[in-house]
Amino acid sequence: MTERIEKLIEEMSLEEKARQLTQVNAKIVYTATTAAITGTGGAMGLSEEDKAGIGSVLNFSGADEEKAVQDDHLSKDPHKIPLIFMQDVIHGCHTIFPVPLALGCSFDEALAEECAEMSAVESRLNGVQLTFSPMVDLVRDARWGRVMESTGEDPYLNGLMGKAFVRGYHKGGMLCCVKHFAAYGAAEAGREYNTTDVSERNLKEYFLPAYRACVEEGADLVMSSFNLLNGIPLNGHKDLLVDTLRKEWGFDGVLISDYAAVKEMIAHGYLETMEECAETAIGNELDMEMMSSAYVRHLPELVKEGKVSEERVNESLRRVLEMKEKAGLFECPYGDTDAEKAKDVNLSPAHRALARKAAVRSAVLLKNGGVLPLSADRPFALAGPFAEEKNILGSWACHGRPEDAVSVKEGLEAALGRKLVSAKGCEGDILAADESGIPAALEAVKGFKTIVACIGEPSASSGEGASRADIRIPAPQAALVKALKEAGHTVAAVVFGGRPQVLSEIEPYCDAILYAWQPGTEGGNAIADLLLGKEEPTARLTMSFPRKTGQCPIYYNCFNTGRPRIPDTLENSNYISSYRDTLNAPLYPFGYGLGYTDWELKGVRLSSEKIVEGGRVTVSALLKNTGKRAGSALVQLYIRDRFASVVRPLKELKGFQRVSLAAGEEREVCFDLSEEMLRFYTASGEFASEAGKFDVFVGLDSSTSLSAELTLVK
Ligand code: GLC
Repeated sequence: MTERIEKLIEEMSLEEKARQLTQVNAKIVYTATTAAITGTGGAMGLSEEDKAGIGSVLNFSGADEEKAVQDDHLSKDPHKIPLIFMQDVIHGCHTIFPVPLALGCSFDEALAEECAEMSAVESRLNGVQLTFSPMVDLVRDARWGRVMESTGEDPYLNGLMGKAFVRGYHKGGMLCCVKHFAAYGAAEAGREYNTTDVSERNLKEYFLPAYRACVEEGADLVMSSFNLLNGIPLNGHKDLLVDTLRKEWGFDGVLISDYAAVKEMIAHGYLETMEECAETAIGNELDMEMMSSAYVRHLPELVKEGKVSEERVNESLRRVLEMKEKAGLFECPYGDTDAEKAKDVNLSPAHRALARKAAVRSAVLLKNGGVLPLSADRPFALAGPFAEEKNILGSWACHGRPEDAVSVKEGLEAALGRKLVSAKGCEGDILAADESGIPAALEAVKGFKTIVACIGEPSASSGEGASRADIRIPAPQAALVKALKEAGHTVAAVVFGGRPQVLSEIEPYCDAILYAWQPGTEGGNAIADLLLGKEEPTARLTMSFPRKTGQCPIYYNCFNTGRPRIPDTLENSNYISSYRDTLNAPLYPFGYGLGYTDWELKGVRLSSEKIVEGGRVTVSALLKNTGKRAGSALVQLYIRDRFASVVRPLKELKGFQRVSLAAGEEREVCFDLSEEMLRFYTASGEFASEAGKFDVFVGLDSSTSLSAELTLVK
């Protein structure tokens, strides 16, 4: 490995090195002329010689194209260095799992790992050697479309889930790339690609930990993000890219830019020329430039002019070549691509079964007035624009196809063995304003007492470039739900979306609300399993659901302020931290979700009221299934550091346990709480705990008040 790499570094010209540090769309190097390429990458002005020496490609159609592109490349590359093929396998390759924000609601790392592993198995057969996943950006603003790619607002959970994805990809034999470093999810007003401004403390406490967790778990690549952060575009941040990522965290893998982000330092108003972009990026140890050509056009000159050392270029080149070695590409340039085998593995029964299980474990039951589960022998009808919708795959669905997906109607009809009446009532487009179809829908379902209303936002309304300034359920859909209720129906809403949406206007008209997210290929079967009671909803929210869009950003681990509104009522708003027109609390809080039984949680106890440096206590509580059927609860552990050298959040998630009990069964649930778990970045910048009193909470969601007092003595 080393010998071959050092020999290549010795033989390659500066121009060849610059090309090897560049990634472009597969079409650029293989079929389309560069002039044909538009968008942020632009006509990259690559010569035929440039194209022959490119290091990596992204966005290709699958196994056949991968082989053709690799063969073409190797026939032209003077050093016969294989391309590495990267793709956005975010939540599945051909078999599509629930979007990560949904899967995160399972609070199940093993499940996330299993889904990632299966994604990798499919990906490798389809020509992918590396995925641009996991995305672990902390998110707090549901207006931002890419919340669907993250696992939510808690840094601890995001780290656990991100590590599970890394392990799963590696178990499945695929390299992976953690993104988007850093704090891309803090986009002002939730507007895509918008400015981010995050204090050093908040970066360390909230926005960086999950990236670090994935680096420490062995993520092979890190992707630097588009955003301006504290006045400097990310690719200009030596403090983060070098001091933090390389020196403090010890990351020595490939750092790749996001799509044309190197070039975009000009649009940001940070650098004036592509030459400066190349000099700055390589100086910050950005090893591979995605979809812009600053390196190809300017690195050789920069080295010849002495502005950039060849050793710095060689260090990046070494990382890129080592990545290819790790992927086994020098021995087998196609990786594990196998178009024939892929036909059997893609969407196989086993893969579909896991997708179905994941979708069951991701849907969150937000309301249930005794309506769910539906009894199979009681007739019901379907309504709404998503009842027969098959594009429930989310916006990063890679090679997933709606025609391979199962709609709610298909899932329910398969489970019941009978046809169902379904009436669309209105369009699913978030900008649709047409309510004219509602009377006909009411007529079509009038003979059925219970209606399953399938509503929400389309897959394309979340994801990259899909911010929404108003995240309510579209008006025609809300009108449909209201009309159904006012016509005397029992309404069980199934809501699709890649983000928390504002459900306040439909909530009064729904007897039940199941938030299905974008559940993936097996969504309809999973929703049928849940609606008919074959499975219990066990997922819990990892992102707060606002009452109004204007509450965004809203998150559980916020501060108390000097004038908290207690109680949180509209009448109590004078000179209090509040809104005049809504409560401060979210409609549904972090950690919340219902099942099909009832729970009682009481009697929080600590093994000791005091804890010392390096010490630990046991936190216990009594959980009882007080309902009529077996069920599964997610018991959560939170702390609050009441007074500290910097204000601490009202709650911080420190642990969770899934507990399944039979009806009437009671069990003591115990958590281990260590002094290390009480540490934070103090006013002096040290990561330490401080003596004083803590509230230790146990609950079934983050609104719990069930607590005991703990004193840290030093
Ligand atoms: C996109 C996204 C990034 C993705 C990359 C390659 O713009 O920001 O998440 O991995 O480009 O598709």
